[in-house]
Amino acid sequence: MANPDRFLLAGVMGWPVMHSRSPMIHNYWFKQQGMAGTYVPLAIRPEGLAAALRALHPLGFSGCNLTIPHKQEALNIVDEVDAAARRIGAISCVTVRPDGALIGSNNDAFGFIRNLQQAFPDWRADAGPVLVIGAGGGARAVCYGLMEQGAQEIRLVNRHFERAREIADEFGAQIRAYPWQQRNEVMAGAALVINTTSQGMVGQPALEVDLDLLPEHALAADIVYTPLETPFLKAARQRGKRTVNGLGMLLHQGPRAWQAWFGIEPAVTAELRALVESSL
Ligand SMILES: NC(=O)c1ccc[n+]([C@@H]2O[C@H](COP(=O)([O-])OP(=O)(O)OC[C@H]3O[C@@H](n4cnc5c(N)ncnc54)[C@H](OP(=O)(O)O)[C@@H]3O)[C@@H](O)[C@H]2O)c1
Repeated sequence: MANPDRFLLAGVMGWPVMHSRSPMIHNYWFKQQGMAGTYVPLAIRPEGLAAALRALHPLGFSGCNLTIPHKQEALNIVDEVDAAARRIGAISCVTVRPDGALIGSNNDAFGFIRNLQQAFPDWRADAGPVLVIGAGGGARAVCYGLMEQGAQEIRLVNRHFERAREIADEFGAQIRAYPWQQRNEVMAGAALVINTTSQGMVGQPALEVDLDLLPEHALAADIVYTPLETPFLKAARQRGKRTVNGLGMLLHQGPRAWQAWFGIEPAVTAELRALVESSL
């Protein structure tokens, strides 16, 4: 448990960082828990990442989250990396140990799965093929989480095929990479389809996919949360599919970080979700 005599500090390092909703989320929890502390946005240029991470301990920070573009580079800086982060190839959370050592972890996969489970309580990873669109950092976390949950067949499509094939080669036989041109065909028989590309995000064009072959009972998820309903999710909803947006993936990473930093797990409440939604 956190020391009540200490003003607790954590933050998010990114470049840029001011768009991040993490300060809103974590400061809500400081208030909810009645704890003295704050969570700050830290605008850190890529070339300053190592120095910034090393400064966490002398400044008294318990840890920080990492966002674009730092998640991969941080792997080379921290002192220890947990198994999930090593496999995913990126760190989303750093915890400062009392001796100053920096521990890297990745809560993206956990957040994604928890969000899915909350939205679809009857969901099972082995219910049928899962189609993952995209092969960036988000996709790696999603694939890791799905495999941890027992997914038997993950179909991975990406604009640049090589990136999808790399993930398939690294992660194992449950993942098969398909060329981008086949993205609509591989919808056939899928129990779940997930957009992990940046397409559909505010300022980006919609993801170019055709959902005609998606089975009637398939679920659709997006890890993008600005906007809350992407064109991809809207198209799925209009076809009668159950959908879930990416906000819960972000929210559900928080309690894991708090557990590592402060020894408690605050709740993702409806009030918190509404607060963040109202800011989007
Ligand atoms: N909800 C959450 O907590 C959470 C967590 C992580 C990420 N995200 C969101 O997920 C999205 C992806 O993040 P990331 O970290 O995975 O980014 P990333 O590593 O840069 O990967 C971007 C992905 O989008 C694809 N892409 C980009 N432009 C495209 C286009 N015109 N047509 C088709 N595909 C395109 C890329 O394909 P290529 O490989 O072919 O370039 C790649 O698969 C972002 O919007 C991010 O904000 C949300």
